[in-house]
Amino acid sequence: MKARREPLQPAHLTLDAQGVPCSTLYGDVYHSRSGAFDQARHVFLRGNDLPQRWQGRDTFTVCETGFGLGNNFLALWQAWRECGARPQRLHVLSFEAHPFTAADLARALAGHEGEMAGLAQALVDAWPPLIAGLHRLVFEGGRVTLTLAFGRIEYLARQTEARVDAFFLDGFSPRVNPQMWSRELFGQLVRMANEGATAATWCSAGQVRRDLAAAGFLVTRVPGFGGKRQMSRAVLRPGLGRPAPRPQREPVIVVGGGLAGTGVAHSLALRGHAVAVFDPMFRSGPGGSHEGHRSAAMTPALSRDDNPMSRLSRAGILLAHQRWKGLHDAYVRCGSLLRVPESESGLWRAALRELAQPAEWARWCEAHETEAQVGHALRHAGVWLGAGSRVRPAALIAILLAHEGITVHPRAVASIRAGGTGWQVLGDDAAVLGEAPRIVLATATHTPALLAALFPDAHYPRLSAMQRMGGQVAFFRAGDLPCTHAIVAGAGYWLPEDGGIHTGGSTYVFDTAVSEPTESGFDSVAHKVAGLLEIDAARLRAARAQPSGWAGWRVAFSDHLPMIGAVDARESVWLACGYGSRGLSWMTLAGEIIAARLNGEPQVVERELLKSVRAR
Ligand SMILES: Cc1cc2nc3c(=O)[nH]c(=O)nc-3n(C[C@H](O)[C@H](O)[C@H](O)COP(=O)(O)OP(=O)(O)OC[C@H]3O[C@@H](n4cnc5c(N)ncnc54)[C@H](O)[C@@H]3O)c2cc1C
Ligand SMILES: C[S@@+](CC[C@H](N)C(=O)[O-])C[C@H]1O[C@@H](n2cnc3c(N)ncnc32)[C@H](O)[C@@H]1O
Repeated sequence: MKARREPLQPAHLTLDAQGVPCSTLYGDVYHSRSGAFDQARHVFLRGNDLPQRWQGRDTFTVCETGFGLGNNFLALWQAWRECGARPQRLHVLSFEAHPFTAADLARALAGHEGEMAGLAQALVDAWPPLIAGLHRLVFEGGRVTLTLAFGRIEYLARQTEARVDAFFLDGFSPRVNPQMWSRELFGQLVRMANEGATAATWCSAGQVRRDLAAAGFLVTRVPGFGGKRQMSRAVLRPGLGRPAPRPQREPVIVVGGGLAGTGVAHSLALRGHAVAVFDPMFRSGPGGSHEGHRSAAMTPALSRDDNPMSRLSRAGILLAHQRWKGLHDAYVRCGSLLRVPESESGLWRAALRELAQPAEWARWCEAHETEAQVGHALRHAGVWLGAGSRVRPAALIAILLAHEGITVHPRAVASIRAGGTGWQVLGDDAAVLGEAPRIVLATATHTPALLAALFPDAHYPRLSAMQRMGGQVAFFRAGDLPCTHAIVAGAGYWLPEDGGIHTGGSTYVFDTAVSEPTESGFDSVAHKVAGLLEIDAARLRAARAQPSGWAGWRVAFSDHLPMIGAVDARESVWLACGYGSRGLSWMTLAGEIIAARLNGEPQVVERELLKSVRAR
């Protein structure tokens, strides 16, 4: 537990007398003095029989215990590119307690030449913020992924989910870095291993070999590299490990084409699944479920103790940024100023110091900075969250659903039954609308009823506590109002102008059967925004636009976390619902969690976070 809460301690690039990168924390070099790539190829690639072992495989997964400068990853990636019989997809999971900053990584990799220089640059460009947890980097259009687990391996190895074929054991010397070579760690690696998994390391220490053997590997010594007489190779003992996944990329039906359904459909389509999405709202276009919802905010959840909500929201937003890059018609990263009560500013400053997140992710913003940061001077400020984004929900949905692997069907699903290739969805006239081996219910408030009809005897305690709330946003003409260029959030939110209109949010209406924009709802939003912007509410009322708002529904659970998970043992029926006020933050996350699971990829968040959102 403690290890997770520790802020990351980045490494600093230092070279030894021979110009080899070395660690001042551990007093050891990052790679053999005889060359990083030659070492990678001899020890880690050949030591794991690569590239031969991945030939003919659809998916191959490598797990590395110390990412360091990424030289092993780059050598592996290059070998994958060069191999005519490469797997369709290569996944790499790599742990790192002391990541370099992007600038140090760039400096360290600056000497690479030719193709390797390009790969190194792509790695630097994709480098995530130095925040503890899992970060998914995507290359080659998704055919190569790198899941970086930032934090101590002692904690994180228990938290990762993957189906591994080959291990690169690359800590510093066991003498100075015993955590990277413990029997307990090797046990966790075996938990993730596929049948026949192999491991290789430059290290031939007796204790390491004994602990690998105790964990379940058959270990041998073979000639080493760069002056090392021997290195170790290991293969998982027969009878251990799970069969390697053989992703079928089966067709999937997604019921519901709102934010949740769209996020899931898109992640699956990117992996090659044929996805059929059903939603009656498609009758007014693919973005039908959010037609009129001009602009919405995606602001990271922040908590002083970095709780699961904050961690999940961070993961979701980082994944979304990566996925939506270039979708300029739908999304702009403008930053959010999170206003906190003046009485709490001391607490927040202290928390930010303790969280020690990079300034581009979260930093204290002084009042005198607000003019430049937000475009409007405030008497007191709050926390600046650089990842805050303004999104046009309907446009985003339409763009993502336009993927060639997705078909949209303007029909409501009245019921689901077992049949055909797995599950059949039926319309209200009992006609079969479609069938597929897997189905995802992204049906917001309708989820419990659909599920109860499908599995009448099952009980899902969290689902039964689902709550539905109506609510509206309000629209204001730009011009006489503060011309902000960032999101201002707190008790409500205010979005930068879009097409001459600012969107302000929002209301929460309980116990209502209809959700539509009302006069009192508009006033309530104007009042909230006036507080946020420190202006008179009358100015906002005078700038009322036409139409003056959009109303919809939110569906949430009491813990404010979404529900993302399978409900049956075969993992053929999935739920993606309960997105509350953060549909934009959860939509890519849910898609990636479900797609990773169905395709045997490393998971994108820690196991304890998966547990916190599961459906049963
Ligand atoms: C006023 C307001 C402002 C908001 N602002 C923001 C914001 O700024 N940022 C943010 O991140 N979130 C915001 N939200 C929350 C966000 O809208 C929700 O979290 C999100 O829409 C949830 O996604 P969903 O797909 O679960 O539900 P929806 O987007 O509501 O979509 C569910 C879809 O399922 C379809 N469906 C249901 N049953 C069936 C069936 N049987 N067959 C076929 N289709 C079916 C429905 O027709 C619907 O289109 C706001 C919500 C409201 C109400
Ligand atoms: C020998 S270097 C790895 C070199 C790397 N494989 C490469 O290709 O550049 C060992 C790495 O393990 C990391 N490390 C050390 N202790 C760790 C721990 N407890 N958890 C995770 N990573 C750790 C170090 O920070 C260092 O980057």
